[in-house]
Amino acid sequence: MKEWTTKDSCSIRWYDEVSSTNDVAREWAKSVLHERLVVVADNQTNGRGRRGATWVTPAGEALAFSLVLRPTMVRSLWPRLALVTGLAVAKVLESRGLYAEVKWPNDVHIDGKKICGILLESIDDFVVIGVGVNINVSCFPAELENIATSMKCETGFDYNREELLENFISSIMLHAQMVEHQFDLLLDSIRERCALTGKRVTLTTSGELLEGVITGIANNGDILLDCGDRVLSLCQADDIRASH
Ligand code: BTN
Repeated sequence: MKEWTTKDSCSIRWYDEVSSTNDVAREWAKSVLHERLVVVADNQTNGRGRRGATWVTPAGEALAFSLVLRPTMVRSLWPRLALVTGLAVAKVLESRGLYAEVKWPNDVHIDGKKICGILLESIDDFVVIGVGVNINVSCFPAELENIATSMKCETGFDYNREELLENFISSIMLHAQMVEHQFDLLLDSIRERCALTGKRVTLTTSGELLEGVITGIANNGDILLDCGDRVLSLCQADDIRASH
């Protein structure tokens, strides 16, 4: 395991292999009070996605990391951190010449293909922001080929993952600090890059399957779904798919 502190005072632990960086980060955060902890792993044996999905990436080719923050804002605002993390990641990708969109609530896409997934878990007085970004992945399994991409697939280049990690962390922290008092500014940027606006989709929310057109993002970060007879403001939705 490699351990260092960044210029933003983040303590980083980079492991060869862990079960899930979110789990290791959670245990670490329980044992120290430090504000900014980051766990990274070249390989996860039990990487988790949302809704109980597994998250698998080839060892050493992606970035799988978890950032622990102890937000002082009210807990009801914490879920916004997922959306804002997507924006933070998209901006770093843009600084490397890759235009990325935020797919509400917490994915990042390039040309309709997923390049990053985010898993936010709130525990006690801290939050673990788990981020998986496809960096130097050159080959995806058949079932992901048409829906996933990586920085390398997009440009043909290999990237320095350590350097990118520090860029992602600084960007996430910067954006996280704006959630409480400057969320409107973040929303402007999220709306500009919203992958779903104007799309006809199906989605499930509270067990109900709905179809409609996404008209945008509300001021509180909800997604707005125009079902024809009514416009719904949804704070949670799963399995959002473009309908044909
Ligand atoms: C999703 O798209 O469903 C979310 C994927 C989140 C994956 C990351 S990789 C680092 C962290 N550790 C995990 O076990 N999951 C997150």
